[in-house]
Amino acid sequence: MALLKISSIETLYFDRIYALFGVSLEVEERQIFAVLGPNGAGKTTLLKTVAGLLKDQPKKGIIEFAGHRIERRAPEKIANLGIVYVPEDRGLFRELTVAENLELGLWGRRDNGVKQDLDLVYGMFPILKERARQEAETLSGGEQQMLALGRAILRRPRLLMLDEPSLGLAPQVARAVFDALLAISQTGTTILLVEQNARLALKVARHAAILEAGRIVLQGTPKELEANEDVREVYLGIGGADTASPKGWRLYRKRRRW
Ligand SMILES: Nc1ncnc2c1ncn2[C@@H]1O[C@H](COP(=O)(O)OP(=O)(O)OP(=O)(O)O)[C@@H](O)[C@H]1O
Ligand SMILES: [Mg+2]
Repeated sequence: MALLKISSIETLYFDRIYALFGVSLEVEERQIFAVLGPNGAGKTTLLKTVAGLLKDQPKKGIIEFAGHRIERRAPEKIANLGIVYVPEDRGLFRELTVAENLELGLWGRRDNGVKQDLDLVYGMFPILKERARQEAETLSGGEQQMLALGRAILRRPRLLMLDEPSLGLAPQVARAVFDALLAISQTGTTILLVEQNARLALKVARHAAILEAGRIVLQGTPKELEANEDVREVYLGIGGADTASPKGWRLYRKRRRW
C-alpha cells in the first residue's frame, strides 16, 4: 500500500494561477520517488502543498498519508504525522553551530534512541562531527546539505521530502548526497524528492515522474523513463535537442511527444 497517495490535486496561487493541475502519484513505503521537471514546473509547489505550507491548498484533490487525509491540514499536524520537509534553501539556522542545528532536530524527542540516531548521523556524515562547533553559514554547500539531511533524520521521519538536494553542489558532492539518500532509505525512511538533476535522481529512485507546467506528463520506473526518447533528450542530454538554451527548450516543447 502507498504511504503517500496524491490524487488529482490542484494548487493555485492568488486563487487564479494554476501551479498544479490534476497531479496524482503514489509513493510506496520505503521507496525513493523522484519528481523531475524544469524551472517553474511546480516541483516546489508540490512539496509545499503536501507539507501544508500553502494555506487552503490544494484547492481540489485528495492527499492521503498513512491512512490520514492531510490536504488543507495545518503544517504542524502534518509534520506530527511524520512528514519532514527540507526546503531548497535547506532551512538551517545559519548562525547556530552544526551541533546546535542537530539538537533542534531532536527537539521534542523523549525516546532513548537519541544517542543511537546521533551516531547514525555522524557515521553517515563524519564531516559534521569534525565541524560540530562551526556555524552553519560557514559550511560549504555540500556540508550544509548534509547537515540539513542529518537534522531531518533526527526527527525520525516516515516521509522525507527534499527540494533539489543536489542544487548548487559539485557533481562529486551531489553524488555523495545521493549515496546518503540511498542509505537513509535503507533505514526504512520513505523519500519524495524533486530534482532537476535527472541522471542522479534516476540512479537512486525506484519510481519517478516528470512534471511539466503543473502536470505529470510521464511516470514509471527509471528504466521506463530512460527508455523514453524525450526523457533521454531533454532530461538526460542524450541525443539531439539543445534544451539548455531557452530557444532549444521552446523548439523542443513544440515537437515533444507528450
Ligand atoms: N508564492 C508564489 N506566488 C505566485 N506564484 C508562485 C509562487 N510560487 C511559485 N509560483 C509560480 O508557480 C509556478 C511553479 O513554481 P514552483 O516554484 O513550484 O516551480 P519549481 O518546479 O519548483 O521551479 P524551480 O525548478 O525553479 O525551483 C511558477 O510559475 C511560479 O512562478
Ligand atoms: Mg523549486
